Amino acid sequence: MISKSMQDAINEQIKNELYSAYLYLSMSAHFEGLNLNGFAKWLRIQAEEELGHAMKFFDYIHERGGQVILKAIDQPPAEWKSNMEVFEQVLAHEQKITAMINKLYEQALKENDYPSQILLQWYINEQVEEEKNATQIIENLKLIDAHGTAVLMLDRELGKRESD
Ligand code: FEO
Repeated sequence: MISKSMQDAINEQIKNELYSAYLYLSMSAHFEGLNLNGFAKWLRIQAEEELGHAMKFFDYIHERGGQVILKAIDQPPAEWKSNMEVFEQVLAHEQKITAMINKLYEQALKENDYPSQILLQWYINEQVEEEKNATQIIENLKLIDAHGTAVLMLDRELGKRESD
């Protein structure tokens, strides 16, 4: 059975993952309003992924005989000044989530809670991916600012080459 302290910490993280979904859905709505449908779609899918992260914790608590207690979710921002600002916030948010996951892992180590350690290793890997994806978008936006879209299109073109 899961310890009360680990249960409480994971319940808190369910809320954080749901807030992530809320934040990205708000960003998606922002881009819908700008008719940037690709950006909107990317963030909508990201929001769905976050819901998946919350549900993975939700199921885990039940598997370990614990109790899920849902907490209130804060209202996310609704307006951003630039595309860059949105993705800088995505990256900053993911870095915050990474720190939270790392803290949960430290707690699982301290409590000798091996099942939670295994579960959290999945999230640790996921966070590497999440930070990489956000960084990549920021770097692409910087490239557009510095060189215009043509360089980015040429890069895509060159990237299509297969080895012989
Ligand atoms: Fe659930 Fe994007 O971390």
